[in-house]
Amino acid sequence: MTATTSASPAAAPSGHGEGPATPATARPSPALCGQVRVPGDKSVSHRALIFGLFAQGETRITGLLEGEDVLNTAKACAALGARVSRQGDGAWTVEGVGARGLSSPPAPLDFGNSGTGVRLMMGAVAGQDIVATFDGDASLRRRPMKRVLDPLVAMGAAVEASAEGGRLPLTLRGSRALKALTYETPVPSAQVKSAVLLAGLGAEGETVVVEREATRDHTERMLAHFGAGIRVEPHGLHGRRITLAGRPALVAAPVDVPADPSSAAFPLVAALIVPGSDVTLTDVMMNPLRTGLITTLLEMGADITVVAERTEGGERVADLRVRHSALRGVEVPPERAPAMIDEYPILAVAAALAQGTTTMRGLSELRVKESDRLAAVADGLAACGIAHQVAGDDLLVTGSAAVAGGGPVATHMDHRIAMSFLVLGLASTQGVSVDDVAFIATSFPTFLPMMRALGAVIA
Ligand code: S3P
Repeated sequence: MTATTSASPAAAPSGHGEGPATPATARPSPALCGQVRVPGDKSVSHRALIFGLFAQGETRITGLLEGEDVLNTAKACAALGARVSRQGDGAWTVEGVGARGLSSPPAPLDFGNSGTGVRLMMGAVAGQDIVATFDGDASLRRRPMKRVLDPLVAMGAAVEASAEGGRLPLTLRGSRALKALTYETPVPSAQVKSAVLLAGLGAEGETVVVEREATRDHTERMLAHFGAGIRVEPHGLHGRRITLAGRPALVAAPVDVPADPSSAAFPLVAALIVPGSDVTLTDVMMNPLRTGLITTLLEMGADITVVAERTEGGERVADLRVRHSALRGVEVPPERAPAMIDEYPILAVAAALAQGTTTMRGLSELRVKESDRLAAVADGLAACGIAHQVAGDDLLVTGSAAVAGGGPVATHMDHRIAMSFLVLGLASTQGVSVDDVAFIATSFPTFLPMMRALGAVIA
């Protein structure tokens, strides 16, 4: 056993947050024009690696997001026994260890900034006879892990050590005698659902997850793709009941990762708010549990044409042609939140340039992301002189035809706060500065050059 059982090193192990910050300023820009493909979907990329780890044989992944979050998951898969390599053609291969074959990692697993990586991997470890220590950067150390640990402990895993409140760093002991569970998720979270399902791979009998509001279903799709027996049924008005047959033999299967709609959101909104713009985003994943932002922007009057919608690798994808548009404020219903949970910061930016007020309801989950995004967005809007109000878990933004800009906006180790306010700067009259762009590399390492190639002025 090599994992540590004491869990209180003074500093988070990851590089970010401890080094000097890299500030940047986005200036009023000419029309954005061109065609780009944003990097691969982050959620699908994490899962492709993890299922590759569990599968018998070699999984080949094309279009993997090579962002820091996903690269940390790749390292963790290797530390748990898989052989993970990048091929000369850019594809990644994972030589799996089989559903029961994970081994204790020789050192703590560092997930950097990534809640998805750490929470899914806790589920993966729970059903194995191994011990692993999980850690991350200062942002990840602040985030709640009990939402994942509670069901895993109920199934038979044990938390041997943790920081206060079940936070990172923590050490988890898995068990081969895991009990299958029927679990209704208390919060709408694909990470919690996925952790329970991954643990369920090692449990005898049927593991059932019930969610009152459906969240992104990439884990369910990939379980089926790798040969597991899985049933998905509707539950109530907006929910689902997912049943997984325990201890399946997973077989390696190729994964082609489509472009990430949550990354596409940034050039997309930039094109809508910078006058004269005409941008095409190719191969964007159109999974209905991820397209809440597009639905909302269309309601706001956005000129978005969905071109060549098709199915690739089990997911709907399309090219999106986006042109500058006169937007108007709308009311976003709370039940839409799971389908656009990562897109509220950039929607707030679109709302800042829209006529009237946009009301976004039911945003409590935004408080536990890479930063408290509700507070970070409100503070950023304030720094740029934009009228807004936080009322409980709701955010109201009142737009105007001309936004002055300002800053520096505090990004709080949060990639999406940094990208959102840089996009705002492109459509402002005086520019917007942000305090640190380093964390953009966690999800969208090519953001700055790609935006500049479209015409954005960011320095
Ligand atoms: C993700 C789920 C969401 C999302 C995150 C990715 C996933 O988190 O915010 O960026 O890949 O499962 P929650 O499950 O905590 O809502």
